[in-house]
Amino acid sequence: MTAQLIDGKAIAQSIRQELKQKVAQRQAAGQRIPGLAVILVGSDPASQVYVGSKRKACEEVGFLSRSYDLAADTSEEELLNLIDSLNQDGSIDGILVQLPLPEHIDDAKVIERIQPDKDVDGFHPYNVGRLAQRIPVLRSCTPMGIMTLIKSTGVKTHGLDAVVVGASNIVGRPMTLELLLAGCTTTTCHRFTQGLQQKVSQADLVVVAVGKPGFIPGEWIKPGAVVIDVGINRLADGRLVGDVEFEAAAERASFITPVPGGVGPMTIASLLENTLFAAEQYHD
Ligand code: GUN
Repeated sequence: MTAQLIDGKAIAQSIRQELKQKVAQRQAAGQRIPGLAVILVGSDPASQVYVGSKRKACEEVGFLSRSYDLAADTSEEELLNLIDSLNQDGSIDGILVQLPLPEHIDDAKVIERIQPDKDVDGFHPYNVGRLAQRIPVLRSCTPMGIMTLIKSTGVKTHGLDAVVVGASNIVGRPMTLELLLAGCTTTTCHRFTQGLQQKVSQADLVVVAVGKPGFIPGEWIKPGAVVIDVGINRLADGRLVGDVEFEAAAERASFITPVPGGVGPMTIASLLENTLFAAEQYHD
């Protein structure tokens, strides 16, 4: 392997350590501890794991962690009512509703009901719009964590050709906006994209978020490129792999994120950073 690994696990841990100190300082100064409410609707096993990790990390840094586990048949109105009450709750700085939601609930309506100043996922159109207009406040967690990882490499982003593969609201779209803000010439690829190989193979920086194991062959990577793999896919044999063929890509890239231990832990670190930001900037 020629690429250097980007150790998301270690970087996330150091962010959590810093946050822990900031919480201790707030407490010493008689200030309120930041509070995060995490809502899970239904019992999707992957969502249960993610939500469990978010709650645990929240407690670990000393935040108030409020958990709501709602039945899969919870009505949209009940969920909206819970959000309304958390919007009014002075001990809560951030509200996170784990996605995907059951079919009968409209994601967009739920996200828009969260007050923008408590939208620590950074999914509300207000917060995405702020990022699009180069005045970010609460930023989407996975792209924000990825920007922290890229910064850690020391690679300067201005003028780089960046390719984002995947155009979801959670990762691809806000990722494109982050890279644009960082001075990259950014191409967003999706299911209708023609000539994906040609686009990826010209990129200095590639972010892949499609949720398909080994979707990007390692030979497509331009020598010296930075490769960020957002995918976490479990194979039949139990192994976790990303969306990029890791071994072959690592022979060509300058920096690459491992799966697991790359992007995954950074999403949670960014969520905690956003919760403290909301407390300090909006609610103190
Ligand atoms: N589902 C997958 N990723 C995320 C995330 O970052 N936040 C929420 N709320 N749901 C998700």
